[in-house]
Parts: sequence; structure tokens; C-alpha cells
Amino acid sequence: MCGIVGYVGEREAQPVLINCLKRLEYRGYDSCGIALLGRGTEVYKGAVRIETLERNLQPNDSRTGIGHTRWATHGKPSESNAHPHTDCSGKVAVVHNGVIDNYLQLREQLTSEGHTFRSETDTEVIPHLIEKYYRGNLEQAVSRAIVDITGAYSLIAIHADRKELIVARKESPLIIGIGDKENLVASDVPAVLDYTDRVMYLEDGDIGVITKNDVKFTRNGKKVERAEHRVPWSIEEAQKAGYDHFMIKEIHEQPRVIRNTFAGHISALEPEIDLGIRRDLDFSNILILACGTSYHAALVGKHVIERLAQIPVRVDIASEFNYSDTVLGKTWVIVITQSGETADSMRALKKAKELGCHTLVITNVVGSSATRIGDDVLYIKAGPEISVAATKSFIAQLVMLYLLAMARASVDVRSRGSLIAELRQLPNKVHEILDREGEIAERGKHLAEHENVFFVARGINFPVALEGALKMKEISYIHAEGYAAGELKHGPFALLTPDTPVIAITARDNTYETLLVNIKEIKARESPVIAVAEEGDDEIEKYVDFVIRVPKVDPMFSPVVNSIALQLLAYYTAKERGCSIDTPRNLAKSVTVE
Ligand code: AGP
Repeated sequence: MCGIVGYVGEREAQPVLINCLKRLEYRGYDSCGIALLGRGTEVYKGAVRIETLERNLQPNDSRTGIGHTRWATHGKPSESNAHPHTDCSGKVAVVHNGVIDNYLQLREQLTSEGHTFRSETDTEVIPHLIEKYYRGNLEQAVSRAIVDITGAYSLIAIHADRKELIVARKESPLIIGIGDKENLVASDVPAVLDYTDRVMYLEDGDIGVITKNDVKFTRNGKKVERAEHRVPWSIEEAQKAGYDHFMIKEIHEQPRVIRNTFAGHISALEPEIDLGIRRDLDFSNILILACGTSYHAALVGKHVIERLAQIPVRVDIASEFNYSDTVLGKTWVIVITQSGETADSMRALKKAKELGCHTLVITNVVGSSATRIGDDVLYIKAGPEISVAATKSFIAQLVMLYLLAMARASVDVRSRGSLIAELRQLPNKVHEILDREGEIAERGKHLAEHENVFFVARGINFPVALEGALKMKEISYIHAEGYAAGELKHGPFALLTPDTPVIAITARDNTYETLLVNIKEIKARESPVIAVAEEGDDEIEKYVDFVIRVPKVDPMFSPVVNSIALQLLAYYTAKERGCSIDTPRNLAKSVTVE
């Protein structure tokens, strides 16, 4: 749950490391640090944001170094717990992302052998193990050290006597950026895009020796080759491009993202969908596993797949599936994860494979851990999502699930044709919502005064209520609850007051009339009601205090337009409250711990 970087080359390492760390801040930001090779190993770190660390640094002409931005798991954010961690001699420095399961045992053993520990972290055992095994060859010392470790890691180690970076990976992402007379290492691609668009992805078990002119990998002691890839994203795509925050930039990218997601899967001439995955699977039901926003996409997917393809679908929160004794018969398991690195989802994916299920991964990140485990992979092609709050990746996940359902739909060619036509129209519909940004921003300013808010809906929009509430709580820190509209009267009614706004998400489907009844019940408790409703629905005006308008679409696609309206609402509410929108407190983009 951290970001790590490394540099070896001809430039001054310090500004490169700081720049790369800034691009990884979404992975954690409670403390940070760098280590530079010069006369020895120099470490600068603290429980501060990267900008502060940068201000406190003196110029340094070192050409080799490593850096880290942390999201605390073992020990509070503090200078001593910040990475890099060093050995007793101060010559070895290590940055690490992941969790060392047996660190207490290793720490006890190393302490008994004379090593002194200065932090509460699991990571600190690594430099001490390297020190223990170092005989003049850092690669060999790292290789030996990781034999003693159980758990997950991506790490970079340096030694004062050697101008090289040693990298290792197990169940935690790591990439190499290939440059001209320089090479970089990072947890994620956006970190290196200022320097190169050529990258290599480490596989689990890989150990690499990175020098300014060379990159070499071994696995189980044998040399291995890793392919070089060109990154299809420009640096501009990974930047804010003039917007105040990545989140609002990413919300505005959604028309293009939707087109990207369906491009290549919809034939220009025939009403056909080709996902390029196996079609001959023998299964009677589907299980979708995911966390957070991806879980909400899965819940929408259940409605769509059951309706169009008439296949029973169960959706489990990945972390809960890991403890269930469920019996999976002929089940097709789909794991949805934007990052492809979420530890709960990875464990669920592995469990599904162990149970003999065929697995499909729906993800955004090429080369991510999930893509190496799943039997089939579908990329949502949303581009890099920097804001911790997922927006465009959620919409792209929905589009992919529509495609999946439509590809398996037992509908006639004409119906499939009209569904595809509707899908093709979605980018224009999204533009219509974005045109209403100003009105939604005004509503956000009003909401910002409140401390509690409910989101309610029925049917296919119930997951949208959950997602609207998640977005609101994570970026504005307002206590927000998503509820099935019919459930409010079973308890939460007790919380309704004139100071508790309720957002009612509507669609003109078979849920509409009953939802109106629920809205009347809520109004009778004097809570202000804001409806999200389609253009032309005049009826709704009679029952609510304010209407956020969205364009008219087939109700099956209403989760797309309704969710985008709620993304904007959450964004402008949080902005009014002056929150740290792209990097909310206590959160990180990629949750690589269980
Ligand atoms: C939502 O805004 C969050 N970023 C979070 O809920 C996220 O969706 C969850 O952690 C799952 O991440 P994943 O899709 O990368 O697996």
C-alpha cells in the first residue's frame, strides 16, 4: 500500500526521485523518504508530504537512489517508520511495498544475532537480512534474504559500495522504466512517464539488477527475459491538464473512456459483440467478486446479465468470499478490479482458481497481478486513474459488463442492434450531464452544509445509491448511507430529520411508482429530497425539493448517467468543504493489504 521508486543514470537522482514519488502519492501519503548513494548511503525521510520533504532537501549530486511514499500498515506514520530503512552499518537501504508476514519471528532472530531495530515496521527486517547475507554481491544477498521472508513484497535495495539497484517482486507490482543511459523503477507506470514510455513488468519471483546501461532478470537462479512494452498513455493523460483535481479531469474524460471501452468489441457493420474471450465454457451460473466501487459495478452487472442473458449471477464482496465455505458448481467466476492489485480480490481470484473455476478478470491496468492469474482478461481501457476516488474506471467497468451481457444475450438480432445503438449514444448523453455541471455544483454547495445524507434507489439503481454514498463519504467526509429505498422504513427512518437530505435516484422502469411512494414517506419525515431524474419527467417535481436532470436513456443504462451526476455532486460538495479530493484522508488508490 505504498509507492516505491528507484533511479540509476546520469541525472541527479534526487529531483527525479521526488518527481516520481509525486506521481505515486495516490498510493499512500502519510510519510515519505529517499536514500541516495554518495559517500555512503544518505537517507532523508519524515512523516511529511513529499512537497515538504522536497523543501527540506539540500542539493545532492548523487546519480543513484531510491524513494518511498507510505500508507501505514505496521506502525504509525513517523520519521522512524518512514522508508527507506537501513541495516546496522547504514550501508544498505531498502524501500518496500507489501507485507512481511513472518517479520516478528525474523526480528526476534536477527535481534538475538546482534541486529538493532529502529522502527516498528515489518520492512526493517529486509535490510538486516541483506546485511547478514552480504558477501560483496548485493544481488546474491537479496536473493538469499527473500528466501527467509514470507508475505508479499516489491522492493528495491541499494548498497553504498555498488552503483546498482536490486529489485524483487512477489504479489506486489513493480515496473522498470527503460531510458537512455538511465533506468528507473516504480510501483506504477505514471511515475516514470516524464522520463520514458518504455517499460518492463516484473513477474512474481523475479529478481533484477538495474544499472544505468543494463537491466537483467533472474528467477529461481536462472536468467529470464522480460518483454519491453510501449506505454499507450501520454504524460498529459497522466496529468491534471488544467483541471483543479484529477477527479474532475477523470469525470470529464468519461465520454472518451466509454468509446475506448467498447471500441474493438462492437462490429461496425453487424450487431455483433466480440470480446475475444472463450465462448465455449460450460457453466450454469456466474459469481462476480470485487471490492468497493468495483463491487458496485458488479451489482449493476448482475441486473444486466440476468436480464439479458438469463444466467443466474451472485455477487460477493471479495474479502468475504475468502472466508465462505461456498460450493461452486459449474460457476464462471469474474473478478472486477480497476487496479488489478487489490489484495482481497487477488486472494478471492486465487481461491476461485483453486476451486477449479474458470476465471475472467476485468481490469484497467495492463500487466497487473490479476492479469497474470485470471484465465481470461478484459481491459476496460479507462487510462490511468490517479484520483483515489474511482470514477471513469467505474463507468468503464459498467460498459464492459453491458458488453458481456449483450454478447451472451438471448435476444434477437434487432434487439441486440438497438442495445448496441443505445450504447453508442452513451458518450453523447454523458456530455449532456457534463453540460449541467454548474447546476450540480450549486447543489453540492448546499449539501456541503450537512453532516448526514442518504442515497436511495430501487432495482438496477440500488448499486448506484451505494456508489453515490461511497463517493460522497470518501471525498467530502460527510456521513453518507446508500440504501434500497424499501429498506429505509425498516430502521433508518429513525435518522431522518429536516437536516438529513435524501438523494433519490430514479429511472422510468418498474421501480418508479414504488419509489415515488418511498419519497412521499421520506417527505412526511420532513427530510429534504433531491431527485436524480430524466429529462421530461415532470411528475417527480411534485414530490421533491430539487431535481438534478439527466438525459433520457433506456432504463437499463440509467446507472451510467445517474452515477456521473452523483460523481459531480460528490466532487462539488467536497470542494466546497475544502477537502483533499484526490488524496482523501486514510485512503489509498491501490489497497494491497487484506
Ligand atoms: C472507490 O472510489 C475506491 N477507490 C475503492 O472503493 C476501490 O474501488 C476499491 O478499493 C477496489 O479497487 P480495485 O477496483 O482497484 O480492486
